[in-house]
Amino acid sequence: MNLWVKKRPEDLQEASEHTQLKKSLKAIDLAALGIGSVVGTGIFVATGQGAHLAGPGVILSFILAAVTAGLCALTYSELACMFPVAGSTYSYSYAAFGEIIAWIIGWDLMLEYLVSASAVASGWSSTFIGLIENLGLKLPKALCLTPLAGGIIDLPAVLITMLITWILFIGIKESSVTNNIIVVIKIVVIILFIVLGIKHINLSHFTPFAPMGWKGIMSGAAIIFFAYIGFDAVSTAAEETINPKRDVPLGLMLCLGVVIVLYIGVAFVLVGLVPYNEIDVGNALPAALARIGIRWGGALVATGAIIGMISTLLITIYGQVRIFMVMARDGLLPEVFARIHPKHRTPALCTWITGSLTALIAGLFPLPMIIDLCNIGTLFAFILVSIGVIVLRHTQPQVERKFKTPLVPFTPMITIFFCFYLMFNLSKITWWRFAGWLGIGLIVYFIYGARHSKLRNGYNA
Ligand code: ALA
Repeated sequence: MNLWVKKRPEDLQEASEHTQLKKSLKAIDLAALGIGSVVGTGIFVATGQGAHLAGPGVILSFILAAVTAGLCALTYSELACMFPVAGSTYSYSYAAFGEIIAWIIGWDLMLEYLVSASAVASGWSSTFIGLIENLGLKLPKALCLTPLAGGIIDLPAVLITMLITWILFIGIKESSVTNNIIVVIKIVVIILFIVLGIKHINLSHFTPFAPMGWKGIMSGAAIIFFAYIGFDAVSTAAEETINPKRDVPLGLMLCLGVVIVLYIGVAFVLVGLVPYNEIDVGNALPAALARIGIRWGGALVATGAIIGMISTLLITIYGQVRIFMVMARDGLLPEVFARIHPKHRTPALCTWITGSLTALIAGLFPLPMIIDLCNIGTLFAFILVSIGVIVLRHTQPQVERKFKTPLVPFTPMITIFFCFYLMFNLSKITWWRFAGWLGIGLIVYFIYGARHSKLRNGYNA
């Protein structure tokens, strides 16, 4: 059994040409897709968690996480442009390393997409509940909290996920229009938060700057990395892009540039408004504005955040559906995952299965646990992307690269270092959960994928 069978670059490109999906997206749509995917629970909810660990030094945590994300984007763009196909890191590693590693990555990517979507739904729910409680309405606790937090199910998280799943089932065009509107709303509320808050900053809140030292700043960065996850959703849409070789790197860089500026602004204003240990962990930004007496601003930011997180959820589930679809095309998952709906031209059943799994995790598990697992899985995926860039420069030098990562192998190596460094600042229990997850993945591979792989059974992918 050859577990290391590799796809040829031509196989990937051929798959792209024969796609049944519509090609309708441009660079600006991709940047909007990226921002739609990236800006969500991380900035609106997890910023508070990061600040509790790092103190005002969370600003540095944001910068460190941004440097890591930027490096990842540089390495990622090279592969995304070599293989403008759906499937993200899974597809690239099929060519770089062979099937078994591709499977591990595909399985690992469920942490980055499916589990991250659950985290976003969970953050959406806590912001939504905070807003309606401020309006004097109360939902029964049993239906707002996960079992580990003393409830039965986080129902708002489940309901929002199923709504988004339905929108995705209808199709990419409707979804991308919805996304563009939401992206504008969330950029506006973030700028609103910065503008309203900046005049009220109390400089005494910045000392001590790092009450928990460097360790606190690094632990903060390991959490805050979540706020940057999602920029690679851009390249999962490469197959639906008119000119992927130019538009994918352009869209990625545009997206990250905008996000980094907004985040650092938010972190600076937030810790300037509220002493770090008094930041409201579940509802950081709206509560900070309410504290300085701008209640209407707090309500507006919460409303924008609720709408904004919807697009994050939408794009993240979208990315997961495409990855499942490509894995099914390769025979590593059952064929139903790849079946395209005749009217909507979307992978219908796959969309519903993905949405239901996301809803289940969001409804039953607490947010910090989900975020940690998502971060470790994502960082691991980027480590493999960086190794892939180096390997493919040697094994496939002839394949055209419209975007080249600068200073190879230095840039990928420093990317690997940063990713590992953040991973080591996550808890031991997160490492165990991650190992367990990969172990289950290998069992599934040997029971199903290894027997049904089209590549190893002699079909063209
Ligand atoms: N970066 C995404 C968020 O913050 C996952 O919600």
